[in-house]
Amino acid sequence: MKLLVTAGPTREPLDPVRFLSNRSSGKMGYAVAAVAKARGHEVILISGPVSIEPPDVQVIQVTTAEQMLEAVDKNVEWCDALVMAAAVADWRPAVISNRKIKKAEAAPVIHLEQTPDILKRVLSKKGKKLYVGFAAETENLEEEATRKLHGKGLDLIVANDVSASDAGFEVDNNRAILLDRSGASEALPLMPKKQVAAHILDWIEEHAAFVM
Ligand code: PMT
Repeated sequence: MKLLVTAGPTREPLDPVRFLSNRSSGKMGYAVAAVAKARGHEVILISGPVSIEPPDVQVIQVTTAEQMLEAVDKNVEWCDALVMAAAVADWRPAVISNRKIKKAEAAPVIHLEQTPDILKRVLSKKGKKLYVGFAAETENLEEEATRKLHGKGLDLIVANDVSASDAGFEVDNNRAILLDRSGASEALPLMPKKQVAAHILDWIEEHAAFVM
């Protein structure tokens, strides 16, 4: 199979030295890419700025949500399954200053605008492909994830509680619930991100055979 995987955060610039971003390390998405490659799948990994070593797959480096959208849109027709593990920033400064905003100036009021919703923007290209998203939540995990599963037209969503200190952002382990559009769910206890990735790949392999 051909898998297009996104990972890491995006960075939304405010001025030449500052940006808005989040705590994603890329570990979860890189684990999906690595396990998929180890199972013999072809993988393109679209990565936001991270400081971990990429697996031995084609990597497209991006910085902003707009660039990630462009890279996903350009490559999604190639794939059989899209796995959006990236923590795309939901907001960006509406105006980017082309010079460093000085501390001596009055504290700036930063107006934000929404970044493009990448999954929604590539929904028209879905066809028989599998689209897998993640839901990073701090409350009402299953409810919020189910809303995103249907709202973004996904086949599977991987819900993780990012308020836990032993799972979610940055750490090597994750605790997730896999919810699919048929209503089936699988709660995974705390385990290494590579094992979570293996469960996601199991689901993709099982359901890709079904749709192809
Ligand atoms: O990178 P790590 O440190 O290993 O951390 C892993 C993780 C917590 C980042 C990962 O497991 C995870 O939850 N990734 C998704 C984070 C996220 O952006 O969740 P969300 O609930 O805000 O978005 C829902 C889905 O829509 C995601 O698949 C996201 O990629 C996608 N999205 C979000 C915003 C946007 N503008 N466009 C999108 O397509």
